[in-house]
Formats: sequence, C-alpha cells, structure tokens
Amino acid sequence: MKKIVLLPLLALLFTSVNTLADVEAGQKLFKGGGKCKNCHKTTSKKKVGPGLAGVTKRASEDWLKAWLKDPKAVWTADEGYTETLKKVMKKEGKPKPSHKTRQLSDQEIADLIDYLKSL
Ligand code: HEC
Repeated sequence: MKKIVLLPLLALLFTSVNTLADVEAGQKLFKGGGKCKNCHKTTSKKKVGPGLAGVTKRASEDWLKAWLKDPKAVWTADEGYTETLKKVMKKEGKPKPSHKTRQLSDQEIADLIDYLKSL
C-alpha cells in the first residue's frame, strides 16, 4: 500500500525538478552556445530579430519546434504563423530567413522553448 502512494509522488517530484532544469539549460543556451542573444532581446524590443517576450503565445509550440530545427524549410513552406512573421519583418519577398542557428538537438530545442515560455 505504501509503495502505491509513494511512486506517483516520486514521479511528480522528478517531473518538476526536470522542468526547472530545462528552463535553466535553455537560458544558458540562449545567452551562450546558441548565440540567440546576438540577435534577440528577451523583452519585446526588436534587435536583429523580434524581441522574444511572449513569443510562445503568438506562435504555437509546433511552429517554434519546426523553426528552431529547420528555419529555411519553415520559411519556404510559408504557412500559418510564418506569414505573420514575414509581414512583421517586412520580408514577404525574401527567399531566406535571416534567423540562423547551428544545428540544435531535440533536447536543446525543448530546453529553449521552455525558456521562451518563461519570458
Ligand atoms: C543572426 C541573427 C539571429 C540569430 C543568431 C538567431 N535569430 Fe532568431 N530570428 C532572427 C530574425 C531576423 C528573425 C525574424 C525572421 C527572419 O527575418 O529571419 C528571427 C525569428 C525568431 C523567432 C520567431 C520570433 C517571432 O516573434 O515570431 C524565434 C522564436 C527565434 N528567432 C528564436 C531564436 C533562438 C532561440 C535563437 C538561438 C538558438 C535564435 N533565434 C538565433 C535572427 C536571429
């Protein structure tokens, strides 16, 4: 009986610790190795690219994942939120996005999105 109560509790604990770690890892990546900070502010002010405060509210998680994985493909597909972004950036006719990152792993992308959600 005790085990039955303890297991879900432990699972809950691990999940919350894990979520915290993701935000921190994402922040590190944003400021350091991912070089995002070179082009993005974490407020709503524009730098090279848009300020990223609230970006997880205007763009869906699926769009963000796809964008960080393969920005060129998302740009070329030109669907949904991409059309809005092009309008905001006044780049409707441009063949390529200016947003550039090194190849990010799925884990890095998940951490970055967790961090973006916290802005
Ligand atoms: C060389 C500059 C540059 C770097 C480095 C860069 N970006 Fe971008 N990013 C842009 C630009 C510019 C746009 C707007 C679309 C375009 O013109 O390419 C953009 C768009 C975005 C968007 C959509 C913003 C919105 O308001 O819809 C997100 C999210 C984003 N970038 C996240 C990141 C993250 C996370 C990193 C680091 C892994 C990163 N960017 C690195 C320049 C950059």
